Amino acid sequence: MKEKRNITIIDKKQIPSEEPARQYYFMDIAKKYVAELAEQKGAPLTFCVTTFGCQMNARDSEKLVGILEKIGYVEAPDEKADFVIYNTCTVRENANNKVYGRLGYLHGFKKKNPYMMIGLCGCMMQEPTVVEKIQNSYRFVDLIFGTHNIYKFAELIVTALESDSMTIDIWKDTDKIVEDLPVERKYSFKSGVNIMFGCNNFCSYCIVPYVRGRERSREPKEIVREIEHLVQDGVVEVMLLGQNVNSYGRNLEHPMTFAQLLQEIEKIEGLERIRFMTSHPKDLSDELIEVMKNSKKICNHLHLPLQSGSSRILKIMNRHYDKEHYLELVDKIRAAVPDIALTTDIIVGFPGETEEDFEETMDVVRRVRYDSAFTFIYSKRTGTPAATMDDQIPEEVIKERFDRLLHEVQTISAEKAGKLTGQTLPVLVEEVNGQDASLVTGKLTNNSTVHFPGTADMIGTIQNVVLEECKGFYYIGRLA
Ligand code: 5AD
Ligand code: SF4
Repeated sequence: MKEKRNITIIDKKQIPSEEPARQYYFMDIAKKYVAELAEQKGAPLTFCVTTFGCQMNARDSEKLVGILEKIGYVEAPDEKADFVIYNTCTVRENANNKVYGRLGYLHGFKKKNPYMMIGLCGCMMQEPTVVEKIQNSYRFVDLIFGTHNIYKFAELIVTALESDSMTIDIWKDTDKIVEDLPVERKYSFKSGVNIMFGCNNFCSYCIVPYVRGRERSREPKEIVREIEHLVQDGVVEVMLLGQNVNSYGRNLEHPMTFAQLLQEIEKIEGLERIRFMTSHPKDLSDELIEVMKNSKKICNHLHLPLQSGSSRILKIMNRHYDKEHYLELVDKIRAAVPDIALTTDIIVGFPGETEEDFEETMDVVRRVRYDSAFTFIYSKRTGTPAATMDDQIPEEVIKERFDRLLHEVQTISAEKAGKLTGQTLPVLVEEVNGQDASLVTGKLTNNSTVHFPGTADMIGTIQNVVLEECKGFYYIGRLA
């Protein structure tokens, strides 16, 4: 049992029942508690939010940071902070193990710091067995919450600060979307924007539908309004986020397609670049390809997860497309947008994968020639259909296939890198180069990295750059 924090508990009257008013009410209370503790400590309370996993989590973390800063916490450079939060991922088993390992190390800090709190949130916390394990073996954790109630963070902080035991709040699912809470963006010039939450696809290996719940799309006018505000605030590039953006809008009161949403976003003045992820091949429409072809703002990049090149395996994965359909889709996209960069996700060692199945994957990789590919070793996720399938593949077989795939993917990436050498293209400048301060570093619309001589005041601007030379996976250029 931990000691109760030394704060004067505030008697709560007239708590608003509506969101987000309720959370702003709790932010006010939390702010008073944080100020009181800072006075006792003789220094501001500090926080550190560590993010595991995908861009969805990265965006959620910006929301956590927004609230922490609003209530008076100051960002710390590392995890020796007064409030450490792990925003977790559970898509593969090793993500979970990493969190357990690091919790042990955090415990050491906590023993030395009476003000320290530890919070855990994100996908991993949606798994009942994980929460049980933390309750039993990591009793020093102060706060656990899930993916559906992240908007309640302010309220949960108040509960945790007032409590002398572990605060746990996990919801199984929700149909609620709460907007207009504070967000602290990591970059001034680009931002993720959630367009939908959850996933309905139930690919047989994947735990996401179980931990992120059913698919919910945000209202298009809310999305447009958020982007307009971001643009007013200096953002020139947005990344539209969803587990399967191609099924956006189906559950709205007035249904709308993703392609239609993109056209609305395209109209926003001052917005220069639109990215999105992730696209599911089964839902990628001709309408979307047409919109991409005609757009001036949609970036020249498509992430199109393949998962496997074997039609037999794709069926068992519940992906609803086959090898031929995928290859046709790639042809259609390339015909419409000839120089588009294609990237993908591939899983090696799905239960029952034979050498022939694996060769089908290699065949797709050789035919599509991805600009880059994320390759994953199949990870058994308890509760998913694939976890109980017969014929789980031995580790050494998977490892050998994985190495072969990685080699193929890397060889192709290397051959493709540099294909734009000599061209003059727009680069969004993101930072001063870490190694050489006379250079700045930015991105082409196809997501390739470019370094060129420049200054810090270019950050957030788009510059035309001559791509003079390709070194490995990046270009060296000069201002046109
Ligand atoms: N094992 C390995 N990789 C997985 N992915 C999702 N679930 C698993 C799993 N159980 C991969 C998929 C997905 C990416 C985000 O993670 O390739 O596209
Ligand atoms: Fe997982 Fe498939 Fe949903 Fe992607 S589409 S999150 S792989 S279930």
